[in-house]
Amino acid sequence: YVIGVDLGTSSVKVLLMNQEGKVCHEVSKSYPLIQERSGYSEQDPNEWVEKTTIALRELVDHFEGNIADIEGISFSGQMHGLVLLDENHKVLRNAILWNDTRTTEQCQQIYEIVGEERLLHVTKNPALEGFTLPKLLWIKQYEPEIFEKSAVFMLPKDYLRYKMTNEIHSEFSDAAGTLLLNVAEKQWSKEICELLGINERLCPPLVESHNFVGEITESFALETGLATTTKVFAGGADNACGAIGSSILSEGKTLCSIGTSGVVLSYEETKDRDFAGKVHYFNHGQENAFYTMGVTLAAGYSLSWFKDTFAPNEAFDSLLEGLGEVSIGANGLLFTPYLVGERTPYADATIRASFIGMDASHKRIDFARAVIEGITFSLNESIEIFRESGKTIDTIISIGGGAKNETWLQIQADVFNAKIVKLSSEQGPAVGASMLAAYGAGWFGSLQECASNFTAEEKVYEPILENVERYQELYKWYK
Ligand code: XUL
Repeated sequence: YVIGVDLGTSSVKVLLMNQEGKVCHEVSKSYPLIQERSGYSEQDPNEWVEKTTIALRELVDHFEGNIADIEGISFSGQMHGLVLLDENHKVLRNAILWNDTRTTEQCQQIYEIVGEERLLHVTKNPALEGFTLPKLLWIKQYEPEIFEKSAVFMLPKDYLRYKMTNEIHSEFSDAAGTLLLNVAEKQWSKEICELLGINERLCPPLVESHNFVGEITESFALETGLATTTKVFAGGADNACGAIGSSILSEGKTLCSIGTSGVVLSYEETKDRDFAGKVHYFNHGQENAFYTMGVTLAAGYSLSWFKDTFAPNEAFDSLLEGLGEVSIGANGLLFTPYLVGERTPYADATIRASFIGMDASHKRIDFARAVIEGITFSLNESIEIFRESGKTIDTIISIGGGAKNETWLQIQADVFNAKIVKLSSEQGPAVGASMLAAYGAGWFGSLQECASNFTAEEKVYEPILENVERYQELYKWYK
C-alpha cells in the first residue's frame, strides 16, 4: 500500500491505495482561511500538521492489514505558500497563501531590480502576487524582525513532510512556483537571490518529486499509528500531482482542474517553448519534464462563495438541481469570476467580479449557471492562449469539482470545443501523490507505467456543435 496526502487550500485529503491502483480508503479534514484584510489569505501551518495527523490516524485505524505493508507516503500541496522557520525550525508566523494578493508593490520592485526580460529568462515566469518571492520581500519590508529571524523558507507540503521526517527539502515542481528557481537549470537562482537581498541559505535543498527523503519519526509514528519504516517521498505541487494522477505525462496532453482555483495545464517536453510569461511555465513532477498553465484564481471558490453567501445551509447538489434545464447563457446573465483578482490572462490583483444582465425573472439557478459558465469562460481564455501558440487541444481531461457535475462537464466540452474526459474514481492530486510514492518505492519502472495501472477513463463528453456556436457568441460578450 501507499498513501497520498493532498494538502489543499480548504482541506487535507489522505488516500490509501493498493498495488492495483484501487482506492482502499480516504479521509479528509478541513481548515479555514484566515482573511484579516481584503486581499490577505493565510493559514496556520501547524493546523495543516494537526489535521493531517488526525486524518492519518483515522486512515490507519480503519486499515485492517499489517501496518508495515504501507510502504510509502508522498504529498501534493497547494503551491506558492510561504512558511518561515527560525533556526530551531519553529514557525515564525502564519503562512501567506497562493491566493493572497498583498504583494503588488513587491512585484513591481522585482521588475525594477531584476528586469522583466531577465526574470522571464531565469524563472520562465512573470512576477505575480501569488508567488513566493514577492511574499518573502513583503516580510522583509513590513516585518523585518521576522525576516531577520528566518533560517529557512518552506512550501506548504514541504513543511508538513518536515514535521513527519525531521528532514528539510523542497522539490522542483513546487520550487518552480517561488520565482527563485532557475527552472531550466533546476537550481536556486543565485542571481535573483543576490539582486533582491535574499540569503541563498534560506532556500531548502532540492530533490526530485519521487525521491526518497526519509522515514517517519518515532513521535509521528506514535501519533498516527504508521510504522517508522514507511518511506517518505518528496511529492509535488498540487497541479503537478493533478497532472501525474491524470496521466498528463507526455506531449499533447491537456488537463483542466477545478479546485479552489482552476487551471488549464499542458505538458511540455522541453524548457524551450516561449509563451512570453502569458502562462506559467513550471517543472513537472516527472523528472526533466515541464508544464505550462493558465490559472483562474476563483474557480471552485466562486461557486463556494456563491453557495456560502446565498445558500449557506444547502449542499452543492441541491444548489445545482435543475442546472441542466437552464438554457445556455443563463437566460442572459453573465458572471466574471474575479472575486480575488485574476492571474490568466489579466494578471491583475485589483480586478473584481461581476454579475451582468440581471433581470427580474432570474432565479437562483440562473445565477448558479452563470457562475459555472463564467468560471468556464475564464478557463477558456487560457485554452485560447495555448491554441494561439499553435498547440492542438482537442481532448482535455477534467478533474476536481468541475468534474463532479454532468452538466458542467458538458458545458466544458461546449465552451472549450474539445472532448472532455472524465476519469473513473477521480481523486485528483492525491492520486498523483500516491503514484509518486508507488514509483518511488520501485513498484513501477516509470510514472507512465504507474499511470496505466492507477488511472482509467470513465466517460467522454463530446462538444455539441449547436452549443459550441452559441457559446462562441457569448464568449465574445464575456471577453
Ligand atoms: C497555481 C496556484 C493554485 C494553487 C492551488 O499557480 O496558485 O492552483 O496551486 O492550490
